[in-house]
Amino acid sequence: MKRLSFRLDHLCAATVAMLLPGLSLLAAGPSEPVVQLDLRQPGFPVSPTFYGMMTEEINHAYDGGLYAELVQNRIFKDDANTPVHWSLVGTGGGNTMALDESQPINAALTTSLKLTVAGVSSGRAGIANEGFWGIPATPKTTYHASFYARADTAAPLTLSLESADGTQVYTIATLAKVTRQWARYELTLKTQKIQPDHAARLVLATKTPGTYWFNLVSLFPPTWHHRPNGNRVDLMQKMVNLHPAFLRFPGGNYLEGKTVADHFAWKRTLGDLAERPGHTGPWTYRSSDGMGLLEFLEWAEDMGAEPVLAVYAGFALPSEAHRGGISIPAGKDLEPYVQEALDEIEYVTGPANTTWGARRAADGHPAPFSLHYVEIGNEDFVGDARKTYNARFAQFFDAIKAAHPGLQCIATIPVKSRVPDVLDDHYYATSTEMMKLAHKYDHYDRHQPKIFVGEWATREIKRVDTNGVTTYNWMPWAYRDAPTPNLHAALGDAVFMTGMERNSDIIVMNCYAPLLTRVEPGAFQWNPNLIGYDSLNSYASPSYYVQAMFHGQPGDTVVKTSLTGEPAGFFYSATRSADQRRIWLKVVNLQASEQTVQFDIAGARKVAAQGTLTVLTSERPEDTNTLEAPDKVKPATIKIHGLGARFKQTFAPNSASVLQLETR
Ligand code: AHR
Repeated sequence: MKRLSFRLDHLCAATVAMLLPGLSLLAAGPSEPVVQLDLRQPGFPVSPTFYGMMTEEINHAYDGGLYAELVQNRIFKDDANTPVHWSLVGTGGGNTMALDESQPINAALTTSLKLTVAGVSSGRAGIANEGFWGIPATPKTTYHASFYARADTAAPLTLSLESADGTQVYTIATLAKVTRQWARYELTLKTQKIQPDHAARLVLATKTPGTYWFNLVSLFPPTWHHRPNGNRVDLMQKMVNLHPAFLRFPGGNYLEGKTVADHFAWKRTLGDLAERPGHTGPWTYRSSDGMGLLEFLEWAEDMGAEPVLAVYAGFALPSEAHRGGISIPAGKDLEPYVQEALDEIEYVTGPANTTWGARRAADGHPAPFSLHYVEIGNEDFVGDARKTYNARFAQFFDAIKAAHPGLQCIATIPVKSRVPDVLDDHYYATSTEMMKLAHKYDHYDRHQPKIFVGEWATREIKRVDTNGVTTYNWMPWAYRDAPTPNLHAALGDAVFMTGMERNSDIIVMNCYAPLLTRVEPGAFQWNPNLIGYDSLNSYASPSYYVQAMFHGQPGDTVVKTSLTGEPAGFFYSATRSADQRRIWLKVVNLQASEQTVQFDIAGARKVAAQGTLTVLTSERPEDTNTLEAPDKVKPATIKIHGLGARFKQTFAPNSASVLQLETR
């Protein structure tokens, strides 16, 4: 397993000052807690799949986010009445722009944008796309553009990346002639030395009066691993740095949709973009399906992660029209959806001589993907799903097990009809609740199914009452101020993670959710989220850094521990490496004061006097990271001395720490 390390050379004076309490080795105090580590007792292995990621199309995670497409509403289906995100360039003289369904290209590209140019008194006429809260224009960048076009006159077109007001043209390319029949055109745009602009626009323009039609207008910047139709580089880098063991996709509610027709129907997300009509997602906007099933799989592959595939289980989310949601009844009605899941599994894992394995090979990935876990549905405690899941689960379970006996089936709620291999538990909770949840699995019946904590996050808001008493309450759904969590919430996460790690014999996998968010007001539907971004830049939240600290140093075996004393707000877990040369102590101090703890290690041959301490803290628990101040709350690593089989360590107020000890 790969490890993360944080470099000392980035420490600023303020951070060093905050870490200093951690360096002081104090004399024993009567009320100081003692953590005993017993290396003589065999611990159980940390699940190799323990840390992963959960993803779905929410908060413009893909469209306008990870999926690097820069044009919004590229096939003109985002709104049935107007070409939203498009505007007319060179107005006046009777020029018009309108949606047009009279010129379909195929069954997916049915709506085109018709530009009627009556005159070009302003020098040109055309259409402009504003992108997702602006198109990023960056220096010395090569963009790949493509579009379908036809015209009633054979005329040249220009394609340019410009400032939003059109006064600055960053790069321009010319198409010699657009033909009378639909054709697909590709152009390259290259910028020189320009000032980065987060809100540029893409313009298709002409100097020749006539009628023009456009469809599937696309613009890509360089992508991760230069994959065509690929992913945004800075976001991929941040995720790769976490070394996730798995990627749970495609949801979340996005798997289900608000109507049966709008579930993640993976077959319409394959192959040529011109064959993908997109669909309405449950999070207020339409999905291009540019991030299709193969793109999900390749994203996981690029991170060295294995897919955890959620298959649609025949439930549409509650809506105004169907308050309990819509359940497809188990039996004959559900059969097509079971078959859809079996085909999907074959697409992922089948050799190229199977029907769907052949389709995957034709789509560009001959090698099957490794898959161990399939989740049947999502959160079937919602609406009427709870009443129907038992039977639906059984039908999927039996079919999947018959075809793929080696696959582990995950249930989204406890079921009686079958014994699931794994149960998916979700927790969105305040840090106060996380303190209780950290002990939830300590007494879990080990004969019950294993647990996948498939969604979890500390979700809270600080309240100070008239007496000045601070509490952390559940964040109201309408609260949309902060797209990403602050330090206090990150510490709530760390508290929960110590409990999960201590129980990682039963918790086989876990993943924070949601993963990605645009940060502009109105762009996100849920908070908090792990990673925030606009068109140009991205940042990691304090919760991301807690993930990095825990993912980066998971250890191979859980060490048996016990605690004497009951320090408030103090949580910990301990693991060691397979070669028994290293111990990792994860410690959270959720108090506003320092906490000194004694550690007694029994059974180690020799504990080296020198180790390292990685600490995440800040001046105030409400401190957070933003696009403007991405590094305000960031972990720092220092070398510490004076360690041994018995030592004391003081932990900074409001901090999460990983102490790495070397043993001989
Ligand atoms: O993570 C956000 C949402 O929370 C998911 O879509 C859903 O599964 C859960 O309720």
